[in-house]
Amino acid sequence: MNAALELHRIAKGFGATRVLQGVDLHVARGERHALIGPNGAGKSTLFDLISGRARPDEGRIVANGTDITGKPPPRVARTLARSFQTTSVFGGLSVLDNMRCAALAAASSRFIDRWLPSRSVDARAHAMLDAIGLAARAGELAARLTYAEQRALDLGIALATDAPLILLDEPTAGMNRAEATRALALIRATTEGRTLLVIEHDMDAVFGLADRISVLVQGRVIATGTPDEIRANRDVREAYLGGVA
Ligand SMILES: Nc1ncnc2c1ncn2[C@@H]1O[C@H](COP(=O)(O)OP(=O)(O)OP(=O)(O)O)[C@@H](O)[C@H]1O
Ligand SMILES: [Mg+2]
Repeated sequence: MNAALELHRIAKGFGATRVLQGVDLHVARGERHALIGPNGAGKSTLFDLISGRARPDEGRIVANGTDITGKPPPRVARTLARSFQTTSVFGGLSVLDNMRCAALAAASSRFIDRWLPSRSVDARAHAMLDAIGLAARAGELAARLTYAEQRALDLGIALATDAPLILLDEPTAGMNRAEATRALALIRATTEGRTLLVIEHDMDAVFGLADRISVLVQGRVIATGTPDEIRANRDVREAYLGGVA
């Protein structure tokens, strides 16, 4: 089996509400996989389960051959990195210090119990700021960045880790076309050789980036396929794409 991520029969509810109902999803190693679907379909909840913020009621989650079902975030941090639908940078730290934190976290997972080479952490932080186009804002407090800049920083923080599996929740939300194009190029470049699962509502972004797409509607995966297959799928068009593409 060559899967980076396997979800088996995942179910999750909050009180009487069934949010996810028997979700099966296989993301192959090295693939860029998009998860699309209407608002409230359960996409972010699925990310919460994969990244250990919540436990599934039923089902199994396997990442790179290891069962991570219900493991808390620190236990899965080496396996996967995640960005959130809402920005989660440290507003009171400088842009550079935000990136240093991410680079340090990545380094400490590699050099656990050993001396941390601060110069390589710094170099990595600066290189990532360059890549996300924020080098000129390095000394600025993160709270003073525009929304799109904060999203770019958030993305850089997730991508600065060495985690082989990256989960991004609506990385281009709130960006204008030019900003989104740059963010997508960055995502493409920095996920090369890794595995990406990305939630995205912007269909241009999805069809341009994804090798395969899964469609979640009312807590169930109704289709998985290549962009062409998903575009041509009648159920998908009726349930979702008809409204947005
Ligand atoms: N902690 C919670 N407690 C109760 N209900 C929740 C909780 N988290 C999510 N839900 C509900 O679960 C459903 C799915 O929410 P979720 O955020 O996963 O959707 P989504 O597909 O990410 O939507 P969007 O595209 O709008 O981000 C919604 O009806 C939401 O209200
Ligand atoms: Mg969501």
